[in-house]
Amino acid sequence: MFKVSYLWILMMAASPSLSLEANGDATKYTAMYVFGDSLTDAGNNKYFIDTLAKADHLPYGIDFSGGPTGRFSNGKNVVDFIGEMVGLPLLPSYADVVAKGESILFGVNYASAAAGILRDTGYRFGHVIPFEEQINNLRKTLGQLRGQLHGNEVSKYLANALVFVDLGANDYLNNYLQAQYYPSSHIYNLEQFADLLITLYRNHILEIQGLGLRKFLIVEASPIGCCPITIHNMKCNATISHMVNMFNTRLKSVVHDLRSNYPGSAFTYVPTSQLFQSLFDNAEAYGFKVKDKACCGGSAGSNGTKPMCFKNTVPCRNRNEYLFWDGAHPTEAGNRIVAALFHNTTSF
Ligand SMILES: *[C@@H]1O[C@H](CO)[C@@H](O)[C@H](O)[C@H]1NC(C)=O
Ligand SMILES: *[C@@H]1O[C@H](CO)[C@@H](O)[C@H](O)[C@H]1NC(C)=O
Ligand SMILES: *[C@@H]1O[C@H](CO)[C@@H](O)[C@H](O)[C@H]1NC(C)=O
Repeated sequence: MFKVSYLWILMMAASPSLSLEANGDATKYTAMYVFGDSLTDAGNNKYFIDTLAKADHLPYGIDFSGGPTGRFSNGKNVVDFIGEMVGLPLLPSYADVVAKGESILFGVNYASAAAGILRDTGYRFGHVIPFEEQINNLRKTLGQLRGQLHGNEVSKYLANALVFVDLGANDYLNNYLQAQYYPSSHIYNLEQFADLLITLYRNHILEIQGLGLRKFLIVEASPIGCCPITIHNMKCNATISHMVNMFNTRLKSVVHDLRSNYPGSAFTYVPTSQLFQSLFDNAEAYGFKVKDKACCGGSAGSNGTKPMCFKNTVPCRNRNEYLFWDGAHPTEAGNRIVAALFHNTTSF
């Protein structure tokens, strides 16, 4: 079997043709593994026949070369930009690796729209891939990788790979907040629910760490109180933001705790809610003329706003001037700024 050397991968990662932003980070990471939801899904849900949570149709992907991929954006998503910043090429989704045999050498994206930390989060949409299963898919990738790299290179390769984790928002949006469909809010109060999520989350991070990964970018649960489906009169929904913050506060202490207990690993915390609030408040300065309405899918606070943009809806023309693409996901222009803010704040 053809085995690729780790050095070769480093050279490839450093090659200027793959590095779209010459910012000196190009050789930092060998690969990136992404765990997340619709903000980062790059096509994992699109193969599920029985799921509604998929963006495999136009106008999704209208500004992406090659058209719709399953990304919940008109173009690129936030991890696409983060990959660019660290000199990695666009990552394949895990499903595309399985279906089309795409290369795993620069990493794989396991994110699944509507998924969360809990197994039953998002189940009403049909088939989604919860965090636990996303990690099982990582295990399969690592098995495959061991067949492609020399044995002694695998651990070094993994230790220099970046792990991106952005989960938790759907455990509220597509679970706790939907009391008519999910039992969680009848069983747990908000503190108990946040504790439950965080215990599982911490265990899952340690599972990934136990597989040999060492560099983590831990992203706060996304600000679901601050998107077109929840914005009202130009204001984010404080009730929802408060719920998500209960999770995020705990997440921050988990990251502190992991740092002191696992000194051989690096855990970077990304304070998304704070970054996003400042982006929302200063949207005009970033070039966004519209921040409360979706480019595709209706206006803010009205009954017409949907989290998703329906097949063949005609989207707004000036997509770079909208912060949001649909009711719950930023435009490519929005994602580019969010990624830059992540990078500027944490220099991961
Ligand atoms: C905020 O969200 C909560 C929970 O979904 C909802 O009950 C409430 O009406 C919302 N508030 C506003 C001002 O839209
Ligand atoms: C949403 O629809 C309900 C029932 O049709 C109506 O009473 C309410 O005023 C609508 N709200 C908005 C913000 O349009
Ligand atoms: C990130 O930092 C760079 C360099 O200081 C700056 O030019 C850029 O505007 C910043 N990006 C954002 C989105 O604030």
